[in-house]
Formats: sequence, C-alpha cells, structure tokens
Amino acid sequence: FHVDIDASETDKGTYEYYMLKEIDEQPVAIRRMLDKYFGDTGEILIGDQILNDIKAADRIYIVAAGTSYHSGLIGARIFESWSGIPTEVHVSSEFAYEQPLLSENPFFIFLSQSGETADSREVLQNVNRAGFKSLTMTNVEKSTLWREATYALPLMAGPEIAVASTKAYIAQVTLQAILAYALSDRIDLDLEQELSKIAVDIQAIVDDKAVFEKVANELLVPAHSAFYIGRGADADVSLEAALKLKEISYVQAEGFPAGELKHGTLALIEDGTPVIALLTQPKTAGLVRGNIAETQARGANAYTITTKALAEPGDTGYVLPDVDPLLAPLLSVVPTQLLAYYTSLGRGLDVDHPRNLAKSVTVQ
Ligand code: G6P
Repeated sequence: FHVDIDASETDKGTYEYYMLKEIDEQPVAIRRMLDKYFGDTGEILIGDQILNDIKAADRIYIVAAGTSYHSGLIGARIFESWSGIPTEVHVSSEFAYEQPLLSENPFFIFLSQSGETADSREVLQNVNRAGFKSLTMTNVEKSTLWREATYALPLMAGPEIAVASTKAYIAQVTLQAILAYALSDRIDLDLEQELSKIAVDIQAIVDDKAVFEKVANELLVPAHSAFYIGRGADADVSLEAALKLKEISYVQAEGFPAGELKHGTLALIEDGTPVIALLTQPKTAGLVRGNIAETQARGANAYTITTKALAEPGDTGYVLPDVDPLLAPLLSVVPTQLLAYYTSLGRGLDVDHPRNLAKSVTVQ
C-alpha cells in the first residue's frame, strides 16, 4: 500500500537530531488533533458506534508496549475518572502469553506509534479470535494493528523517526483524553479550551531549551544513576521520564511512586545522586515534599518539576503553568524529554539511534 507523507515532515531541516524536532512538534500535534476531533460547536467527532461499543463494555483493557504503555497508564486514570469505566493497562508482551482473567464484556484499546509491535499484534489476534471488540490508536494509518482492530483512530502526530518516542506519547494521551471526554456524561471542563491552552504551554516549555540543557549538563551528564519520583499521574510520568533518560543517555534511571522510596530505593541515594521529583498533583503534593526531604537528608541533589500552585520559594527546579491534574502529564513529560535529549547530547551520543534499540519491534 501507499502512504502519503509530506516531505517536510521527514526532513530534519536545521535540527541536528529528529528527536528535538519531534519534541518541538508537540504543540502542533495537539492542535491537529483538536482540528480533527472537535467540530465547530465543540462537539466531539468520534463515531457513535465506537462510543456505544465502549459504553456497553464493563471494563476497558489498554494493551501496549514501551512508551505507548506509559501513555496508557495516564489514559486509564482519565477513563476511570471521566467515564467511570474500570480500566486496566497491560504490557502486551505479558498479556499475550499470561492473559489475565477477563471481565464478561471487555473492550480493548491498543496504543501503538507504529501499529506494528509484534506482541501487541499477538494480543489483538487473540482478542479477535475471542470475538471481542477493539480500537487501535496509532500514528501509522493502515498499519497492521490499524487494519486488524474493529475500529481505528489516527494520532496524526506526523512521522516519528527518532527511536525515542515523544510526540506519539503526547498524541496518545491527548486522544485518550478526548475519547474519555466523549464517553463521560458531563464533566466540568472545557476540554477543547484546556487542550488549546496546553499546546501554548508546551510551546513555552520547549522555548526554554537552554534551561534544560544547563540542568542536564550539571545534574545528569556526570551522573551514574538518576531517579524520578512522583505520586498518582506523576508516578506514571516518572516511568516514562526514566525510560527516556536511560534509552538515549545510558544513565541508569528508575522511575517509581515516591512512597515506595523507603521500601528499598532509598538505599541507593548517595551524596549528589540526582532525584527529580514530579509534583503536579495537589492531593499528594505534601507527601511528595516529605519524600524529597528524605532523599535530600541522604545527600540527593533534588530537582522539582512542579506547577505554579504547588511551587515553593526554596525549590531548585522548573515551574509549569497550572493545569487540570489529570492532564498535567502533557506538560510535565516535556521537561523530562528535554533533559534526556540534552543528557544524550552532552554525553556525545547518537540521540536518534541509541545502541541495541529499534524504532519498531516486530519480533516477539
Ligand atoms: C520500541 C520503540 C519505543 C516504543 C515501543 C512500542 O521499543 O523504541 O519507542 O514505545 O517500541 O512501540 P509502538 O510502535 O507499539 O508504540
């Protein structure tokens, strides 16, 4: 088959690496999605059949790998909060061979940048054999997962070439939020307006590149290991932040729920160990503050990525604009992408082609 790709989308232009270009394209990716999925009067343009099939389900199962799995963790929180449908997220390489007990009437959502990840394809084949309905959200129209699912919705982020995924994550979180919103009866939020504002806010973050280059060079380039911590949606973002850092900079990085620190990881904190705290969730901000202090007492070099409302005068860190807590990952992930990028660059590595990794994993 033939896929039309605008040449300007695959041209690196003045960028040294695709990854930075793709980070910069994130505001556009959100705006494209607003154009596609919102009508003139703010109505959501997702077919009734998809919505009715999901509403009829007693549970949503999100299945994905890598960065797409991490976006699913965020999506699950949004589906549960806004649409009230219990939602589970599974790594496809596990689900394919150790299938959990399913609910009576499940609906499956496959998240995949490429639409070709072998383990996710394996799960979809099982789902189809069992006669369950499914939806693929992918960046590659007409890909295998696109063709074989009951329904498919495009992410429209444009070709993503760097191995480390960035704009596809943003597009996946955005599209899941739009779908969850369409499934909700009425939530007190103008999502179209909120997403437009987020696109503007992401632009401001990517315009702050010099800030992150400096922090990466001082905090992460010389580091042997680094930790990302957070609670709730911030814990989910910490996983993605750590993955991004390790895959392109080879700094041993771990992301985890901040409350778990004292159950083991605290033993690894030494003088100067970078601990980056994601702090965007008002409900648990006080507890995370306590966790940051625990690491600082052991010598950690703490850096916070927080929102205006939750920032404190003594913070060393970056302050994001205020945002709905469920959508905060769309903002907080961006500094972590830039930190990973500049750490890789600072270490003299090939940012777009990390060793041992492939853009699309088509073997099981
Ligand atoms: C590979 C890529 C990752 C990606 C994962 C899942 O490991 O390097 O960036 O997140 O596959 O890929 P998919 O195309 O299914 O999102």
